[in-house]
Amino acid sequence: MQLQLLLLTFKQSATKMATPRLLLFFFFYISSVCIPSSVGVTLRTTDKIVWANEFEPIELTCVIESISTNNPRIEWKKIKNGVPSYVYFQKKISGDLEHRAQLREPANILIFNTTRSDTAEYRCEVAAIDDQRDFDEILISLAVRVKPVAPRCSVPGSVTVGTSTELRCLENEGFPAPQYRWFQNNEELPQDPKTSLKFANSSYIINPDTGGLKFRRVRKADAGEYYCQARNDAGHAQCPPQKMEVHDVDILGIFLKCFAAVIVFFCLVAFVCHYLRRGCFHKKGSNENNYKWPAQRDGVDYGDADEGHFRHKSSFII
Ligand SMILES: *[C@@H]1O[C@H](CO)[C@@H](O)[C@H](O)[C@H]1NC(C)=O
Ligand SMILES: *[C@@H]1O[C@H](CO)[C@@H](O)[C@H](O)[C@H]1NC(C)=O
Repeated sequence: MQLQLLLLTFKQSATKMATPRLLLFFFFYISSVCIPSSVGVTLRTTDKIVWANEFEPIELTCVIESISTNNPRIEWKKIKNGVPSYVYFQKKISGDLEHRAQLREPANILIFNTTRSDTAEYRCEVAAIDDQRDFDEILISLAVRVKPVAPRCSVPGSVTVGTSTELRCLENEGFPAPQYRWFQNNEELPQDPKTSLKFANSSYIINPDTGGLKFRRVRKADAGEYYCQARNDAGHAQCPPQKMEVHDVDILGIFLKCFAAVIVFFCLVAFVCHYLRRGCFHKKGSNENNYKWPAQRDGVDYGDADEGHFRHKSSFII
């Protein structure tokens, strides 16, 4: 009836080409379609995106704004990586949230102690068979913040003045991914050394996203105990301090090392030469023997003598 009336108004308006009446018509028509009170079940939530801290309770709200059915069917599904599973079904908490959650009137779900695995999308579905519009659903995304654990830090024990070096810091548990800060002797290094009197001459760059602390040219004053802190909205954690020593270019040390190296080299050369010379002498000696005929002849004579002796022995045996 209402629609016919409206259509009639529309026809009249159209024939008269009266724009204000046309607008009035659309206003009435759209409001009659969109105002839900008379139409059926409608859900609402206070937060479509919910952040919770791990090990703390959180309530996902599913407010039923309008309904005529007395005993609607309420279901909650968890959708993780596109795979849905029931968390509230047939008036019971099941699946991942079993014993860890409860349904609170009218259709909210309260998780007593969230864990990182609860990070997912949750869908509240209400079916009201006696209503004209008998179904509505609402999607809520829950993200559980995880406090960082102590990061792994790597600090070089000893570096030389004027060289470059990098200190590293990494933490993998925290969610969302933590931001990193560095401390020298319990004092936080400002993001930009230029902003502080104390560190103005230092050449470091901090990358708060990756945890790197890079010195382009290490100074004496950069020596100290360093630790890094990983921080996100859920909390923070740090690694134990580690000492970085900065030493001068050690000219005496380098000289001594070179000196030692030269000595070792000469010793090696002397040894090799000595060995070779002995080898050569030996070879030369045999040549000399060949050259010295008289001595050689002596040898030959002895050989002959031996041979003769042998022959003699042989004949003796025969
Ligand atoms: C939450 O769960 C964790 C581990 O599952 C437990 O250590 C902690 O005590 C619980 N917190 C509360 C408030 O129950
Ligand atoms: C930084 O360097 C300048 C010039 O070399 C010097 O005057 C100043 O004292 C230094 N500041 C610090 C904090 O070492």
